[in-house]
Amino acid sequence: MRTLLLLTFQWLLFALSLQTSLSTDTLKPSQNFTDGHTLISSNQRFEFGFFSPGNGSSATRYLGIWYHNLPLTVVWVANRNKPVRDLPGKLVLEDSGVLILYDHSLGTVWSANNIPNASTVTPVLQLLDSGNLVIRDDGRNKTFFWESFDFPTDTVLPDLKLGWKLDVGLQKFIRSWKSIEDPSDGEYSFSLDPPEAPQLILRSGSRKQFRWGPFDGTSFSGSTTLTTNPLFQSKFVYNSIELYYKYEMLDVSILSRLVVSPSGSLQYFTWRVNTSKEWNLLVTFNSDPCDSYGKCGHYGICYTLSSCKCLSGFTPTSPLDWGLFSYSGGCRRKHELSCSHGDGFVKYDALKLPDNPIVWANYDTDHECGVKCLQNCSCMAYANVNIYGNGTHCVVWIGDLVDLKNFPNGGEQIYVRMARSELQSIADAKRKRLTVKIVSIVTVLGTLFLFSGAVWYLTWINREKRKDRITQLNSKGQRSGSFQYVEDNQDEGFQLPLYDLDTILLACDNFSERNKIGQGGFGSVYKGELSNGQEIAVKRLLEKSIQGVEELKNEIILIAKLQHRNLVKLLGCCIEGEETMLVYEYLPNKSLNNFIYDKPTRKQLIWRKRYHIIKGIARGLLYLHQDSRLRIIHRDLKTSNILLDSELNPKISDFGIARIFGTDQKQDMTKRIIGTYGYMSPEYAMNGHYSVKSDVYSFGVILLEVISSQKNWSFHHPDHDLNLLGHAWMLWNQRHPLDILDPIIQEPSYENQFIRCIHVALLCVQQYPEDRPKMSTVYAMLGYEDIELPEPKEPGFCRESYRNKLETSVTNSSTINEVTMTTLGGR
Ligand SMILES: *[C@@H]1O[C@H](CO)[C@@H](O)[C@H](O)[C@H]1NC(C)=O
Ligand SMILES: *[C@@H]1O[C@H](CO)[C@@H](O)[C@H](O)[C@H]1NC(C)=O
Ligand SMILES: *[C@@H]1O[C@H](CO)[C@@H](O)[C@H](O)[C@H]1NC(C)=O
Ligand SMILES: *[C@@H]1O[C@H](CO)[C@@H](O)[C@H](O)[C@H]1NC(C)=O
Ligand SMILES: *[C@@H]1O[C@H](CO)[C@@H](O)[C@H](O)[C@H]1NC(C)=O
Ligand SMILES: *[C@@H]1O[C@H](CO)[C@@H](O)[C@H](O)[C@H]1NC(C)=O
Ligand SMILES: *[C@@H]1O[C@H](CO)[C@@H](O)[C@H](O)[C@H]1NC(C)=O
Repeated sequence: MRTLLLLTFQWLLFALSLQTSLSTDTLKPSQNFTDGHTLISSNQRFEFGFFSPGNGSSATRYLGIWYHNLPLTVVWVANRNKPVRDLPGKLVLEDSGVLILYDHSLGTVWSANNIPNASTVTPVLQLLDSGNLVIRDDGRNKTFFWESFDFPTDTVLPDLKLGWKLDVGLQKFIRSWKSIEDPSDGEYSFSLDPPEAPQLILRSGSRKQFRWGPFDGTSFSGSTTLTTNPLFQSKFVYNSIELYYKYEMLDVSILSRLVVSPSGSLQYFTWRVNTSKEWNLLVTFNSDPCDSYGKCGHYGICYTLSSCKCLSGFTPTSPLDWGLFSYSGGCRRKHELSCSHGDGFVKYDALKLPDNPIVWANYDTDHECGVKCLQNCSCMAYANVNIYGNGTHCVVWIGDLVDLKNFPNGGEQIYVRMARSELQSIADAKRKRLTVKIVSIVTVLGTLFLFSGAVWYLTWINREKRKDRITQLNSKGQRSGSFQYVEDNQDEGFQLPLYDLDTILLACDNFSERNKIGQGGFGSVYKGELSNGQEIAVKRLLEKSIQGVEELKNEIILIAKLQHRNLVKLLGCCIEGEETMLVYEYLPNKSLNNFIYDKPTRKQLIWRKRYHIIKGIARGLLYLHQDSRLRIIHRDLKTSNILLDSELNPKISDFGIARIFGTDQKQDMTKRIIGTYGYMSPEYAMNGHYSVKSDVYSFGVILLEVISSQKNWSFHHPDHDLNLLGHAWMLWNQRHPLDILDPIIQEPSYENQFIRCIHVALLCVQQYPEDRPKMSTVYAMLGYEDIELPEPKEPGFCRESYRNKLETSVTNSSTINEVTMTTLGGR
């Protein structure tokens, strides 16, 4: 035993000293290739030889391919399940073209199979520039007898074809390593299958975990990143001999690899030749919880960041599931099908197509596909999909639909089978909605005409009444709270608790000053505790909404449905008399401004935390702007509106309140300016023009504030009278952007990220809204290091003089710094 160890050790020393390549990319049958020898591809990118995984100290050796001159990153392993233990190993290319790996005592460890009987050729083994190791004829015939790309390990390199060689029935897929130290077969695999209706599937063992597909002509249903991406172009090919997915790099100076990690993440890494110092994780493809297979059960749709909802016409199978984030039991029909009594189809848009598609190759046209599906009683849905990329085909689903996801950008159309009675009630509802619309238009016109003269009177009355009500409230004694539900008619399966006033009064101790935790332009915020011990934050809205109570409730329900981990959760509301109150989850960690401007606490905010916060805010805002169904413009985004939970996850608060007040979000001009100086974009502050780009501006300001731990509005510098934006802009132009960084942050290894964040912030605060990027771009810019950023132009409002100008234009401006201003008709 001891001698063996000693031998091993001596041999290792020898191997290390001999880690010399044959300085060529080819091996001929006559040449010896033992541990210590390597082949290097002619472009110097890849190297082939023996290695030990992990720290390299292990006495087991594997034969594989890695990147030449980079920290050991293995892309292929020949003998992944059977290391060479009897050292040293030796690789032999026989004259017949067979490649065999022997151990020291000449036992066969591994051999390249699938080699045709090729005794008539002169074989060579060659490591190609793509990282593909091939056995081919040295003569003119370039056919590969064998190639490592046919037997991938856990990595898809550019040009590797993941999929099928249909003529020989070979499937090429990747499987994770067991651990970072152990290349043997791990738990997770990623493959393209089945050939009849190909989808990309990530499995754990044999269980599907994530699924994208089927292919729809341009991308795999449910994912755009797998096909279009700032860095690569993907290809999906299906013909009689092969079926594959592969990607090609757009910029050849970037190395890249798609890997399924031992823990089951499907990750795409890049490395910029000559500049990168570590692999950059560009994207994890299975990061959307909504892609988690079958999350919402049969007929359940997953909405951004994992809230479930049933397809309309369906209702949760288990009432316990209502309002939860996942439906264990899926959804059931409200009206049972009756195949013989004329079922029909309802069209749904913007969905990731369900799993288990079947292609009915003989029927192509829209109509025919539907007719045939209707005739087959187990056919539950159909769609016309360009599933092979060569024209639309009739695709059907037999049995219950599973693994649906809402996919607003690039989702598909699908027709789902419904009972006649359901179709009838949909038609009725449509008619009713139309009637209501007409009636309400007429009513509004009439009302306007009749009452316009009396508006001032009503306002006055309201104010008086409100005073009364509040005195009344404060004198009310304590009573036990009760609880009722508002039914939301438009969407089944969602209920918003309506708290009664007494419950709230009891919870918030009659709105005592002691319970007050904040004050904003929309009203005051109180902390409270319900009788069941749940802590809540209650926002007591100051103004009266211009809408009626029913509309107000509907509006609040809509807002409450916006669920995202970076938004504060709206738990319910209370509307009684003049009082409108919103009940939110209570977050103990206060708001971002309490952290960053305050010397002792901001030490907690090391860069990684700040970056996490920045990305969280961006994600939440992106959801409001784009991913939610409402497209909400926040209009008062600032650090004091960003709350932090106990793990310092940021949550945007106060969103949608402008909407609750009945201000039309689509309108792009308002006389009522809601906002906070220092965060308001020029076009909004000066002219009342707002758009998603005004939120982008505010986000840029927050970004700079988080980076610098300084307030934009009250920034002072001895040398000039610029505000924080102006200061950042000046430093940018002087090529010292990092001078703006909070000196507490001492993490030079993140320098590139600092500069990138400052760069993105400056792009966000540019003077003209059309120059500012959209939030989706901002989010991508923050996340993908490889996106080129344009040069920023001068920010809007970067001078002190702006402050003076505004302060004189607004009366009573003594306390405006912190508090949201609401100016009526303000210019
Ligand atoms: C290969 O190795 C054998 C013995 O290990 C040796 O006899 C032979 O000369 C070597 N061939 C070359 C080309 O180095
Ligand atoms: C490999 O090295 C790292 C850091 O040098 C160490 O943390 C780790 O424990 C090592 N692994 C093994 C298996 O020795
Ligand atoms: C392959 O070639 C060997 C001789 O090199 C011969 O003995 C064998 O029968 C051949 N096999 C086939 C399948 O042709
Ligand atoms: C190359 O060799 C393979 C296998 O022997 C054969 O099928 C193919 O036709 C040859 N190609 C050319 C161009 O000769
Ligand atoms: C499209 O491709 C599939 C798979 O290769 C094939 O079966 C089908 O015939 C093709 N259809 C057309 C219209 O070319
Ligand atoms: C990387 O550096 C080498 C040597 O300095 C140079 O020859 C090569 O062109 C560079 N590659 C790229 C992509 O910049
Ligand atoms: C319905 O279609 C499926 C899938 O093509 C088929 O297996 C089944 O036999 C059909 N059923 C009837 C009644 O035609």
